[in-house]
Amino acid sequence: MTGGYGGGGDILNGCTISIDPGQIAVIVGPNGAGKSTAMKAVFGMLSLRKGAVRLAGRDITALTPQARVAQGMAFVPQTHNIFTSMTVEENLEMGAFLRRDDIADTMAQVYDLFPILRDKRRQPAGELSGGQRQQVAVGRALMTRPTVLMLDEPTAGVSPIVMDELFDRIIEVARTGISILMVEQNARQALEIADRGYVLVQGRNAFTDTGRALLNDPDVRRSFLGG
Ligand SMILES: Nc1ncnc2c1ncn2[C@@H]1O[C@H](COP(=O)(O)OP(=O)(O)OP(=O)(O)O)[C@@H](O)[C@H]1O
Ligand SMILES: [Mg+2]
Repeated sequence: MTGGYGGGGDILNGCTISIDPGQIAVIVGPNGAGKSTAMKAVFGMLSLRKGAVRLAGRDITALTPQARVAQGMAFVPQTHNIFTSMTVEENLEMGAFLRRDDIADTMAQVYDLFPILRDKRRQPAGELSGGQRQQVAVGRALMTRPTVLMLDEPTAGVSPIVMDELFDRIIEVARTGISILMVEQNARQALEIADRGYVLVQGRNAFTDTGRALLNDPDVRRSFLGG
């Protein structure tokens, strides 16, 4: 993928990302590297100047984000990812907006995954803690029954305990066969659970390997993981 915003220069410079079914891919890299831009490009919120996005082998580069949702992609952006004045349950209902079938089973699955949300389903989502809001955002995305779930910094601003808990839930989601593409600031912890890791620098792939191999790579450790 190569592209940038409006008439500006390229932010993505030929970066390549792929995810296999049911696997967890993690993008890490310095601030401003283009991680969120890459996520937006995959989801169709940024038009590419070069390159393509394919889903199960099919070229979806020309599809709108809405059409990509209908094709099985779901995206939780880095910021503004819930409706704060709506209740938890209304947020989940909004997630299912495109569906015309019965959403009760999916909602029950989300509540089983995040039991605290069942307890708080009548509360405005804006009243929840940071970690609980992220659960609402992930739950909202799951309501479309995606095959690919994209998460931009799902553990931003949460405590280490809540982070571990969220990562455990994300692993659980992947075990159901949903592919996860995730950007993470908590690089070490995220690479621990990554089948594949990407270190992005200035919109380019600097390092690509299994999460484990990246964690053990001296260059990656020195430059991106604090030694
Ligand atoms: N909407 C936008 N319009 C113009 N430039 C943008 C826009 N969003 C991001 N950029 C620029 O694109 C570059 C990459 O930003 P991006 O948000 O993708 O980085 P990031 O790797 O996600 O950083 P962070 O770790 O801080 O979230 C930055 O130089 C940023 O200023
Ligand atoms: Mg970002």
